[in-house]
Formats: sequence, C-alpha cells, structure tokens
Amino acid sequence: MLETILSARDLSVRFGGVLAVNKVSFDVRRGEIFTLIGPNGAGKTTVFNLISRIYQPTSGSITFEDTTLTDMAPYSIASLGIARTFQNIELFENATVLQNMLIGHHAHRRVGFWGEWFFTPAARRSELDACFLAEEVIELLDLQSYRDAVVAGLPYGIRKVVELARALCTKPKLLLLDEPSSGLNPEETDEMAWWIKDIRKELGVTVLMVEHDMSLVSRVSDRLLAMNQGEVLAQGTPSEVQSHPRRDPGLPWHQRRRTKLAEGRMSTALDLGTAPMVLTLNNVESAYGPVKAVRGVSLQVRRGEIATVLGSNGAGKSTILKTISGVLDPTRGSVHFKGADITAHEPADIVRRGLSHVPEGREVFAMLSVHENLLMGAYTRNDADGVARDLESVYEYFPILRERQKQAAGLLSGGQQQMLAISRANGHAGVDTAR
Ligand SMILES: Nc1ncnc2c1ncn2[C@@H]1O[C@H](COP(=O)(O)OP(=O)(O)OP(=O)(O)O)[C@@H](O)[C@H]1O
Ligand SMILES: [Mg+2]
Repeated sequence: MLETILSARDLSVRFGGVLAVNKVSFDVRRGEIFTLIGPNGAGKTTVFNLISRIYQPTSGSITFEDTTLTDMAPYSIASLGIARTFQNIELFENATVLQNMLIGHHAHRRVGFWGEWFFTPAARRSELDACFLAEEVIELLDLQSYRDAVVAGLPYGIRKVVELARALCTKPKLLLLDEPSSGLNPEETDEMAWWIKDIRKELGVTVLMVEHDMSLVSRVSDRLLAMNQGEVLAQGTPSEVQSHPRRDPGLPWHQRRRTKLAEGRMSTALDLGTAPMVLTLNNVESAYGPVKAVRGVSLQVRRGEIATVLGSNGAGKSTILKTISGVLDPTRGSVHFKGADITAHEPADIVRRGLSHVPEGREVFAMLSVHENLLMGAYTRNDADGVARDLESVYEYFPILRERQKQAAGLLSGGQQQMLAISRANGHAGVDTAR
C-alpha cells in the first residue's frame, strides 16, 4: 500500500449562492498521477485553489504529508513542496524563460538578507544550485532554444512548457497541473503526456492534474476523481471510473455542441460555392520587430464558411488572426473584408465593420459582470431591441451565463469564461468571428 501524500477530507467551499465544492474527499498517493475530471464549472480548479490556499474552505481539511494545509499561509505552500501551473498561463511576460524559471527557486532560498547582500559563499552556492537545476529542467523539457527568449514573444504551446519548467524549479514533491493540454495540438499533447510521465519517473514528483482531454487522461493517470457541480461522482482507476454507473460527468460544452454544430453546417456547406467572399488575405507578411512571424499568407473565406488555420505552435496562426483584426499591422500584403480594404486599419474600425476576434487568452473584463461583458460586445450598436434579443439568445444557448449574469466575469470557471468570450464577440449583429 502506497503512502498518502495529500489528503482532502469533506472539503466544501461556498461563494454566495454557489456551492463550488461540496464534501469532497480524496487521497493522493506518493508517486502517482491522479487526475480530476468533470464538465465546466464542476469545481476542479477550485480544489486546486483550496490546496494552494487562495481560497479558505467553508468546511473540511487538507493534509499534505504531516502538515494541515488549512492552517498555513498561502506564501508557505511552495516551500512545503507544492507547485502549480494555471489554467490561464501566469508568467512574467517581460522576463526571459530562464529568469522566469529562476524565480521558482526563491521558494527554497536558505540564505538570509545579509547573505544575499554581501553575496557570501553560501549565497553564491545557492545561486549556482538554482542555475544547475534550471539547466537540468531546460534539458528535460527540451527548452534549449528558448532559454534566453522573452516570454511575451513566445507561442502559447511553448509558454505552457515554460510554466511547467518554472514549477519544476521549485523542486516540488507534488505538482498541480491545471489543464496541461489546453491550447496544444494533438502532437504537442502527445509530448506533454511523455513529459508528465518523465517528471514522475525521472524526478519522482507526484502529479495532481485537471484535464479534459480524455486520451491524455487515460494514458497517464493512475487514478481519477470525477466531479460534477462540486460533488464527487466516482473515483478509482480509469477503467473503474469508466464503468461506474454515474460515470458520465458530462462533456465540456464545446464537445457537447460539436455534433449539433457540425450537422447544422452540413446543409450550408453545400451552397458555399456560390456564397460571396467575405474575407480575403493576399500575400500577407507580419512581423514582431525583426522577427517575421508569417510570410506569403493568402486565404479566402466565403460567407457562412468555417475556415480553420492549422499548424504547430509558433507557426503563426494567432498572428494571422491579429493581422486580420488590426491588432498587428502587416508589413506586406493586404486584407479585404466585405469588399473593402481594411489593411492596417484601426481595430476599432474593423470591429465596427462587423469583424470580431476571440483572443487566445479569452481576455474577459474580469471586474465587469457577465452581463456588462456581453453589453461591451454590442458597444457599437444602437438598436436596443436587437441587442436585447441577441442577449436573450446567448442566455438560451448558455444558461450558466444567465444564472451568473450579475457575477464578476473573473470569477467564472475557465470554460465559462470561454463561453462568455465567444458570446461577447458575437455581440455585433451579423458579425464574422475570428478565433
Ligand atoms: N471566487 C469565486 N467566486 C464565485 N464563484 C466562483 C469563484 N471561483 C469559482 N466559482 C464558481 O465555482 C464553480 C466551480 O468553478 P471551477 O473554476 O472550480 O470549475 P472547473 O471545474 O475548473 O471548470 P472549467 O473546466 O471550466 O475550468 C463555477 O460555477 C464558478 O463560477
Ligand atoms: Mg478550471
């Protein structure tokens, strides 16, 4: 029988009327990969926030090794040996990859203020240890070519790996990973699966993970905990949970709707050939300073069409969308929308013309309510009745947004924020959405 490293007992937390986590109990064994699954809003990230002491439970307790976490201050969690990554990547954007990684080391600094001030031999040794560890992690996660790159310029998939690298530099015994595969393509998800297994094998780290991608979940997890609406549905090995009578915790919303949407588009797909061209990119080149991110991109999209840009991380997909929506001016080529040349136009003008962009990181206005965020999407309109009608249809499509319409958007779960970002972008009547 393996020893328990983390134990949650009858854990509950309530936010106003929402019981986000309701009497949840589970044990994570040392050396295992334990995964929380469940639909959007199930309470998975909230469990992570309870472990990291961002939230105080309404009742229940969490024990890590011999320490009762619920008695500890949030800043002491890392020094106990618990590290985490976030569902929305949280890195120091203007620092390099290596600098971000070295920040992790400070959780374990043993040299006092004066030692650092005079840079004593002990302080030097400690810095050196941190550098050696960072280099080892860079090697393990194949980050050599990004070592000195500033994070702000890195593609999403690489940032996810950097966040993982920073967490490893705190020398964790327990690593919490919140949706490690989100934003990654299938090959990168494959790689992530290897890394997670390697981290456990090479570094002996126990992993507690939240994940939606069931292929990754079944490939790496020793045991699962399925949650729904704050409660535990089932727990056990992947096959035990799959054969559990209450196993279906519901798919995340985008997977649930997939079939319906696909069917809905089939009929339109038939007459697309005659539909007018709505967007045309001609030989577009865009750059960030001296770095050319895309070159010679030409594409055409007809009204009603769903066009998808595919490619590995760093291929320039998001750059194409930024160039279309005016966030980035192309250095060469042209963008036409509904017959007009919108190359290098101001984003505000492009939005008014009916072209919306759902950015990668959702970018909801965290302090505004759900309803206010939706109204911001309709900012350019002056047909109050039409706006009210469109809001009603958003609320019908995503009932959770109606329920939470008065709540600050920053307090929604990750998936709920994605629903909001897409609905907000559709706030302009008849918009064409880039995402
Ligand atoms: N600080 C908060 N204040 C109010 N409600 C909150 C807060 N944090 C979380 N919630 C609510 O608690 C519920 C659980 O949220 P949580 O983020 O844990 O979901 P999740 O399982 O991680 O979902 P997702 O898969 O979408 O990331 C949601 O309904 C969310 O809106
Ligand atoms: Mg979450």
